[in-house]
Amino acid sequence: MNYRHFSLVAVTLFLGVNAGAQSASKETMANLNAAHLGEANAQHRYVVFARTADAEGYAQVAKLFRAASAAEATHAFTHLGAILDLGGKVENSALDTVAPGTTLANLKQVVVGESYERDTMYPNYLKLAKAENAPEAVRSFGFAMAVEKQHARLFTEAYAQLGKNPPATYFVCPSCGNTTVGAPARGKCPICQNPTTRYVNVP
Ligand SMILES: [Fe+2]
Ligand SMILES: [Fe+2]
Repeated sequence: MNYRHFSLVAVTLFLGVNAGAQSASKETMANLNAAHLGEANAQHRYVVFARTADAEGYAQVAKLFRAASAAEATHAFTHLGAILDLGGKVENSALDTVAPGTTLANLKQVVVGESYERDTMYPNYLKLAKAENAPEAVRSFGFAMAVEKQHARLFTEAYAQLGKNPPATYFVCPSCGNTTVGAPARGKCPICQNPTTRYVNVP
């Protein structure tokens, strides 16, 4: 499997997990919708930021943006799966227009966004979904929160090292978006427990 097949795999996995009827409050459904739209926008925004990074000569940072974009795609799909599984529907799928700044400015903005998702947005969403016993939402928010933590760290490092970013390869779990520097260790994904042999190298 290569990077171009990533979305197809994510769709397949989404269909595979979309079984069983659960329920959630209007608030959790609104949270899932906000998260779905946010992740779809992040997926798109990071592709645009990768182009800017390549144009400015920051090939390594471009690679990180593409890996994170692939991870955000998995989050959009798992959120979509939870929305449908919980009997809801997608309220808004219109993507924002992206006006990229310099790579330095883009990285600064992304660190703020990922940190907010890690520290505020997903912890709040997760807490409510747990209280409501909505397992598909708990699973989906949990995956995203764990991965945004990694993204916040990776983008913070990339920002601090801009211009002298060390060469790295990135791998992404197609089920949960887990993003590793270098090939993952053989075994189970620490976040979703699927085999790490499924991870995809994002060039
Ligand atoms: Fe992220
Ligand atoms: Fe995973």
